[in-house]
Amino acid sequence: MPRVEYQGTAVDVQEGETVLDALLRRGLPISHSCRAGVCGSCLLKAAAQTPPPAAAQAGLKDAWRASGYFLACLCRLESDLVAAPAGDEARVPAVISALERLTDSVLRVRLETRAPFEYRAGQFVALLREDGLARSYSVASLPSEGMLEMHVRILPGGQMSQWLATQARVGQALSVQGPSGECFYVPGREEQPLLLAGTGTGLAPLYGIARDAIAQGHRGPIRLFHGVVNTAGLYLGDELAGMAAQTPNFSYTLATLAADGPLDALILNTHPSLKHWRAYLCGDPTLVQSLRKKVFLAGASLNDIHADAFLPSAT
Ligand SMILES: Cc1cc2nc3c(=O)[nH]c(=O)nc-3n(C[C@H](O)[C@H](O)[C@H](O)COP(=O)(O)OP(=O)(O)OC[C@H]3O[C@@H](n4cnc5c(N)ncnc54)[C@H](O)[C@@H]3O)c2cc1C
Ligand code: FES
Repeated sequence: MPRVEYQGTAVDVQEGETVLDALLRRGLPISHSCRAGVCGSCLLKAAAQTPPPAAAQAGLKDAWRASGYFLACLCRLESDLVAAPAGDEARVPAVISALERLTDSVLRVRLETRAPFEYRAGQFVALLREDGLARSYSVASLPSEGMLEMHVRILPGGQMSQWLATQARVGQALSVQGPSGECFYVPGREEQPLLLAGTGTGLAPLYGIARDAIAQGHRGPIRLFHGVVNTAGLYLGDELAGMAAQTPNFSYTLATLAADGPLDALILNTHPSLKHWRAYLCGDPTLVQSLRKKVFLAGASLNDIHADAFLPSAT
């Protein structure tokens, strides 16, 4: 049976277990959230003499792979491994610089990082509390704004979201890791129509991508659809309507489930052909999966469909 050694504690990895499972079973405080290789929060570093399996490094930056970083939730061992916490090169200290309720259930969180942190609007980061609690949040801000902005849905019983909403204060220290994710604007093909679609706080990355595309001179149509269950879920409506009034190639459609039906049906009725479009899909995993398929069937190339599903934590 292979063993993982973490900060001096050796743990047998049982049949069918990942390194994350084994370390958590032993009660070791390893940050984690999705357990599916998406959020990145279970990042660990292997000692040079025990490189991790390649499958546990899927999706990591080349430099991180070369340094022995791996995702503990993807790591299944055939031989022993010596692992350590992710180092400073992977996690950047930050403080909360602003907290603002946008609605009863959506909190705007702004962070200032204490070291340079490169990202593109629309990507997501792992936000790590000092005790190791980690969750992913998409970035609504542009790097030029000098801070990281996130829109956090406040969930009943939500460990991170309730803490941010009720206990965290401006000045609170945290750290961020990343960025990750495929939803960000890539300059070029300035005439290409862009479809931005998401539900709930799936608006956060879309808001960032739309503003980035406009700032970078995108000339093709930019169509943003925001789906909410009812109008209580509406946020940034005035700001987006103002953007639409000032930007001829940008439009914003708010769709409530009760009045407009499912978001995917509304989009496909409005745009039955999406040939040559580029699509960004974010938020509820079921909707993202359904839209990805429908947007492809409506003619968009797979290479032009970018999606980040907000998978819930699996802790
Ligand atoms: C790539 C990615 C990007 C994300 N970006 C954002 C973002 O920009 N904004 C944002 O608000 N969230 C985002 N999320 C989700 C976020 O990471 C957390 O899962 C979410 O904030 C809940 O964390 P929590 O600690 O508050 O709740 P938890 O303590 O994890 O869960 C509390 C309860 O809520 C339930 N729950 C968890 N998630 C959901 C959900 N989505 N819908 C309904 N019930 C749920 C759980 O099953 C549990 O019962 C993203 C997730 C991923 C993977
Ligand atoms: S990537 Fe491992 S817990 Fe999310």
